[in-house]
Amino acid sequence: MIIMAQKSLVLYFSLYGDTQTMAELLGRITHGTVVPLQVETPFPDDMNAVNDVAEAQRAKGTFPVLAGPLPPVQEYAIVLLGGPVWNGHVATPLRRLIQDTDFGDVPVAPFYTYATDPGDYAQEVNALLEPGSRASLGMSDETVKKTNQATAELQKWWDTVRPQ
Ligand SMILES: Cc1cc2nc3c(=O)[nH]c(=O)nc-3n(C[C@H](O)[C@H](O)[C@H](O)COP(=O)(O)O)c2cc1C
Repeated sequence: MIIMAQKSLVLYFSLYGDTQTMAELLGRITHGTVVPLQVETPFPDDMNAVNDVAEAQRAKGTFPVLAGPLPPVQEYAIVLLGGPVWNGHVATPLRRLIQDTDFGDVPVAPFYTYATDPGDYAQEVNALLEPGSRASLGMSDETVKKTNQATAELQKWWDTVRPQ
């Protein structure tokens, strides 16, 4: 338990692999446990169709059911919570995770990927996670693919959010 309590959990949802790349880099940087979130009902292949599904979910406030058990977040020293920007918002699988999870006193540092415009993601995720939210890090999918630059940015961010 003592060992677990010092560990970080990198928990993420990724449809096309960008957030996954960021999560795996963070797993290495933090020596943490990396856990992907999956949805019970897969999203469509087409990005516009995904957007339609997600917007309908947001409008109704009914977020997709996640597959499998959720990790024991309270056994970690910090949770790094990652996902893609969808239409300027937090992707709906992460909304479900946040809705269903009691983080207790464990701080949560959000990270996210986007193509060109992150919209209100940072403010939104911060408000959803209050009061335990730490500074978030957004990264364009172009930067995510530049491993050296991405690693340097992630390391810098980790040094600001990591538990002392
Ligand atoms: C439904 C949907 C909506 C998106 N909306 C935005 C957006 O508002 N702004 C943006 O910059 N990128 C947007 N994107 C692009 C993704 O945020 C970006 O490609 C991200 O890196 C994908 O992460 P992933 O590979 O982990 O799924 C959207 C993608 C999808 C599928």
